[in-house]
Amino acid sequence: MKTPAITAVGHYAPDKILTNAYFESYLDTSDEWIVTRTGIRERHVVENQATSDLAVEAARRTLAMRGIGADQVDLIIVATVTPDMFFPSTAALVQNRIGASRAWGFDLSGACSGFLYALATGAQFIIAGTYSKVLVIGADTMSSITDYRDRNNCILFGDGGAAVLLEPGDEPGYGYLDWVNYMDGCGEETLHMKAGGSRHPATHETVDKGWHYIYQDGKSVFKVAVIGMAEAAVEIMRRNNLSSDDVAWLVPHQANLRIIQATADRMGIGMDKVMINIDRYGNTTAATIPSCLAEYYADGRLKRGDNIVLAAFGAGYTWGAAYVRWSI
Ligand code: UT7
Repeated sequence: MKTPAITAVGHYAPDKILTNAYFESYLDTSDEWIVTRTGIRERHVVENQATSDLAVEAARRTLAMRGIGADQVDLIIVATVTPDMFFPSTAALVQNRIGASRAWGFDLSGACSGFLYALATGAQFIIAGTYSKVLVIGADTMSSITDYRDRNNCILFGDGGAAVLLEPGDEPGYGYLDWVNYMDGCGEETLHMKAGGSRHPATHETVDKGWHYIYQDGKSVFKVAVIGMAEAAVEIMRRNNLSSDDVAWLVPHQANLRIIQATADRMGIGMDKVMINIDRYGNTTAATIPSCLAEYYADGRLKRGDNIVLAAFGAGYTWGAAYVRWSI
């Protein structure tokens, strides 16, 4: 059995930035409220781009870091809840655009846990020895399903894409070492996008009712997210005999700084060991965790040998955690 390792990582955020001041300009909100309740100061949003554009750029940067051509990729998994279209898959669009001529792939819908779900899925093809190069991408264009009149939600989300390349690891004890993933579909009520699927196909009525936007009962989701993300992270530590001193970084889904803080507290680690970029990007759903990895690796804070715990919670509900010993 091979141990999968992350051998390259890349991140892309669109150019346009919406600051908290922008929302202050037309909504009953304030920079102070947004920063203290969420930790967000600004978020990037697309202009004339879709999720495949974010995913393609992230994939290109990842392959460039590894120094290989797209024709060497075996499999492409795109975690997203905002595909360009229902079909063909965003993975197919990425495959064509980057020229991954011998790859197949698919989209995976795990919401904010999408990247962790996709990582666990892609890893199985390495463990089984089926493939040697799996591109796992998390990309979302949350602005395409955000109601910018809804102050409860519009301040939370941003757009972005990030990717990792999974390959068989070169050294025992390094790489993607353990994971736990969970799901409880009772979360449908509190966090969903109601229309556009087969339950409520698009009609004038669904559009008038705003059913093509994110609906979130933030307070209810907050309560379960705090518990779920922390418990999964602590479970991963326990299963792998990791003390708080052993953990170099917590890499959390970036939905709310207070949820992240609660998770760090439960793990017994200080915020100096937590990867944070929510202040600059907001919640980019499937892209949050790999975007942190890309930024912290690029500036040298994430180093070979670091024990890192990835953790996420999102719509479904879905949640999970993973243990990676960084190998590049
Ligand atoms: O990533 C997927 C999973 N999602 C999450 O993890 C998100 C979880 N939820 C949250 O992060 C938080 O619940 C929010 C940031 C969405 C909201 O924070 P909160 O501390 O739970 O606030 P709240 O919903 O309890 O609202 C408090 C007050 C309300 O006013 P009243 O009813 O107390 O008068 C809201 O109407 O704040 C009001 N409010 C705002 N005020 C200024 C809501 N949004 C805003 C806003 N600006 N943008």
